[in-house]
Amino acid sequence: NDFILPIFLTDGSNIRQEIASMPGVYRYTINRLSQIIDKALVNGIPMVALFPKTKTSLKNEQGSESLNEKNLICRAIIEIKKRYKNQIGIMCDVALDPYTSHGHDGLLKSNYILNDETIKVLIDQSLLQAQMGCDVLAPSDMMDGRIGEIRKALDKNNYQMIQILSYAVKYASSFYGPFRDAVGSKGLLKGDKRNYQMDFRNKNEALREVALDIKEGADMIMVKPGMPYLDIIKGVKENFKIPVIAYQVSGEYSLLTNGINRGLINKKAILESLISFKRAGANAIVTYYADRLSLILK
Ligand code: PBG
Repeated sequence: NDFILPIFLTDGSNIRQEIASMPGVYRYTINRLSQIIDKALVNGIPMVALFPKTKTSLKNEQGSESLNEKNLICRAIIEIKKRYKNQIGIMCDVALDPYTSHGHDGLLKSNYILNDETIKVLIDQSLLQAQMGCDVLAPSDMMDGRIGEIRKALDKNNYQMIQILSYAVKYASSFYGPFRDAVGSKGLLKGDKRNYQMDFRNKNEALREVALDIKEGADMIMVKPGMPYLDIIKGVKENFKIPVIAYQVSGEYSLLTNGINRGLINKKAILESLISFKRAGANAIVTYYADRLSLILK
């Protein structure tokens, strides 16, 4: 019950495609989604997080496909809600990186992300995903001030019940590599994301970011990556009594899985890693293992 399962989407029909850098994790076309969602339900998973692999031909500088009401994510939300009603929650990223030709989470000018201009697009992306039936919006873009603006826009448009899970503490990390491969932004990314994601040397800034996002209206807080940042999870949980979610990111998943597949470590390492999040104080965990938990726990 404390797990969120990320699912990668791809265009086309009848495809289930393994992600080379994440053995055991697949991209699904919309008509194959029930294959993984049924498994999540059997495992008692309350929510899935959707991530689209957008066709390169649909990407541009502005990431305008993010606002297309027929884009992959919108079609997936509609399909899941039609089939499963409220049996499973849907969480969607708010960020532009699956849609931009440069792979950044926002609008780029002279190698810098434009904070306020990006927020305007994120508000429209949030409203669109809300309109489609998304339950939890998860801004993972790291612009400053976007939680307050998104909350205001949601309330004004009668989406008071939609929750915001803020990626308040997201470090510029090497552990996201396989994810960028999964959503197809890896080869495209120009430079790095240090202009808006956090410096991993900095602990105090994590608390400032969380304080701001709570004040702006966040319902829950994400700390990311997970295992190298257990001290941050603990610090956030102790300082602010708000639900804290840990994200066991793609690089953590790949290292563990490849280590197990090659016989370097025992598969009990998975449970050990998940328990470390609970020990640190995480209320819930986003993990690519969520669809196979009964096997792992056995
Ligand atoms: C992008 C986003 C990223 C992840 C989730 N949303 C990658 C990034 O910031 O480049 C990473 C997840 C993972 O590595 O598992 N907004």
